[in-house]
Amino acid sequence: MYKRTIKNHLTFAGNPLTRGRHKVHKYPAMLHPLLVDFLIEEYAKNDDIIFDPFCGSGVTLVQASVKNHESFGFDINPLSLLIAKVKTTKYDFKKLEEDFKKFKEHLKNEKNIDIPEINNIDYWYTDEVKRDLGKIRFVLKNNEYIYKDFFIICFAFICRDQSLTRNGEFKRYRIKKEKIENTENQVLDKIIKHIESNIEIFKKNDLPLKEAKPILVNSEQEIDKKLTYDLVITSPPYGDSRTTVAYGEYSSFGIEWVNDLNFFGQINYKVDKEAVGKIGKINDEIYRNEILTKTIKKIEKSNEKRSKDVMYFFNGYYNVLKNVVKNLNKNGKVCFVVGNRTVGGVQIPMDQITAVFFEQLGLKFENIFVRDILNKVMPSKNSPSNKVGATKNTMANEYIVIFTK
Ligand SMILES: C[S@@+](CC[C@H](N)C(=O)[O-])C[C@H]1O[C@@H](n2cnc3c(N)ncnc32)[C@H](O)[C@@H]1O
Repeated sequence: MYKRTIKNHLTFAGNPLTRGRHKVHKYPAMLHPLLVDFLIEEYAKNDDIIFDPFCGSGVTLVQASVKNHESFGFDINPLSLLIAKVKTTKYDFKKLEEDFKKFKEHLKNEKNIDIPEINNIDYWYTDEVKRDLGKIRFVLKNNEYIYKDFFIICFAFICRDQSLTRNGEFKRYRIKKEKIENTENQVLDKIIKHIESNIEIFKKNDLPLKEAKPILVNSEQEIDKKLTYDLVITSPPYGDSRTTVAYGEYSSFGIEWVNDLNFFGQINYKVDKEAVGKIGKINDEIYRNEILTKTIKKIEKSNEKRSKDVMYFFNGYYNVLKNVVKNLNKNGKVCFVVGNRTVGGVQIPMDQITAVFFEQLGLKFENIFVRDILNKVMPSKNSPSNKVGATKNTMANEYIVIFTK
């Protein structure tokens, strides 16, 4: 058992998770920006390059850039990468405001609409909402803006916000019929307000200093030899996307409307199929991790199917860890922020499992910090039984596993 150290000051009580530039588009299980700041201050030396193999919406990349470090990150979700790009861009705010003026003018005068092919579109949007989203899409598709991505991400935010999905769920659940009659179409008003307030936020917060590169890569693939780094700060998924957070499904409203406008390419929105946890051949090396095998055996007793899901997840996770360690520079450090979820009544000590893997891969133990996650938007809401509304608070803590090469 690797020693855990409780760090009360890392709770950041009263400091909201979604702050500064991170407000432009929410993302599930985001890292707390203040935690990333702490890890950079504690572990990065001047000129260290920072890497995040599961960069999501880019909290690590933003904070690295603000703190004057070059960084890059991988993810398989094209929408999250575009959010990360928008948040790490250096803006000429005068030009951004001119762009916004043009955009408002275009929106006011536009009569055309462009509605892409979306499965069950009428189930997820009212006719008026569909029409107004189609109008924004037409404007974005047919006009040039210096900072078009900024508007695209604000648009993606509105596509989810104004859909008929319930707030506060990661998966798609339609709001009740009675409620639909009372919903009001606020698309045009909301997008203007969202852009306006975010321009103000971006002007005042998190000004990026160094380049940050979000890249569309599956971290289970070997990393290009030329890409090396000194510090890894990341929060991996806690489990496979079938039974934990479905990042692709969460982002799918935005992805469907902006897919062909996204710099990161047109990707089938079912990115969850690519996430860590794919069903496939198990690498024998993972059986050397006794904490993992014991945990799997316990789960097997109550639920064989779920125990297999857990095995597939850690199989893919181990592939990523191997790749990450390989390209890490000597004396470099990894900081993995993980959660210990419960499956079939058994708590999975992901911090300990991660620590064993890193030791097997030749790294030296540094620390495991434990922090409360009072204000994190994350799968404490994710039902262990996978039933709507059946939530259980399975994760009150986050563990930061730190090793050195
Ligand atoms: C906990 S989230 C990261 C959130 C991120 N720290 C942030 O602040 O927004 C985990 C991310 O891992 C990504 N992911 C899952 N499997 C992946 C894989 N094989 N390669 C790259 N990214 C993957 C998901 O798309 C998701 O964005």
